[in-house]
Amino acid sequence: MIVTTDQLFRVAYGRFAVGAYNINNMEQTVGLFKGNIQSDAPFILQISRGARKYAGARMLEAMIRAAEERFPEAIYAVHLDHGDEETCYDSIDSGFYSSVMIDASDKPFDENVAITRRVVERAHAKGVSVEAELGKLGGVEEDIAVDESNAFLTDPDEAVKFVEQSGCDSLAVAIGTSHGAYKFSGSQGLHFDRIKAIQDRLPNFPLVMHGSSSVPQEEVKRINNAGGKLDPSAKGVDVNEFVKAIPLGVTKVNIDTDGRLVWTRVHREFFRDQPEEFDFRKPGTIYIDAYADFIAHKNEKLCSAGQLPVVREELSL
Ligand code: 13P
Repeated sequence: MIVTTDQLFRVAYGRFAVGAYNINNMEQTVGLFKGNIQSDAPFILQISRGARKYAGARMLEAMIRAAEERFPEAIYAVHLDHGDEETCYDSIDSGFYSSVMIDASDKPFDENVAITRRVVERAHAKGVSVEAELGKLGGVEEDIAVDESNAFLTDPDEAVKFVEQSGCDSLAVAIGTSHGAYKFSGSQGLHFDRIKAIQDRLPNFPLVMHGSSSVPQEEVKRINNAGGKLDPSAKGVDVNEFVKAIPLGVTKVNIDTDGRLVWTRVHREFFRDQPEEFDFRKPGTIYIDAYADFIAHKNEKLCSAGQLPVVREELSL
């Protein structure tokens, strides 16, 4: 059942973080639903502009509706990830999305506010909520690349002003994570003091953590052993840090890259070990289950595993 992102946030705030996972194709969609059912977790299904370009917005929508028929016990919200204005309006008008993200974080503060405000007005008129972004994450996210020297953490005082002036419903904050497979050099982690300072000024306001993949070393090693050439020093967020961010208001955690690594590992190993094969349904089947296990594991770390009964009860579903 599709619920609003606000409903999920109301139940989750301070207790658990809702995993926000990107989908691009059928195998990923099925694995995502399976993994969340397996771990009894609510979730946010994210669609990026890249996914809409790759699979087509209507194709993704049809796939999600079909998955819902197959997994009727799922409780989730549908979210546009990193939208520009035009894509936000298309998503709002489609009537299918629970929330949209307008990402104008590369613009000066006042312009970011003005763009976000316009999207908020259109979205709220249709009951859709809006995530905005303030601060700048490093790394590569589809066609957006920000090098580390241009990344900066969210300023807590600016965050208050931004939320008041834009009317957004949740805020993606730069708190030490970065997008993509090549994140931290050295052992940089989350800036808990910064998250706390933002929460102190914005109590009970849902904060969103982008760039939350872990880039597990074991996964990178297996990919490289099967012919891949990923940087072995690649490192992401320590999954054990999620639990510390939850009481500080981090309510939505975005994970995409790690799921791509699972796909790459399964397919590279499959074709390495069975070079005579060309039936892609075989690795596809392995991938669906591997992706479901991956989602269930992340949900344990986000403390969203086992929360479906709580969500059902509190939302009277
Ligand atoms: P990762 O690249 O760390 O998976 O982050 C994804 C993300 O933030 C999507 O918005």
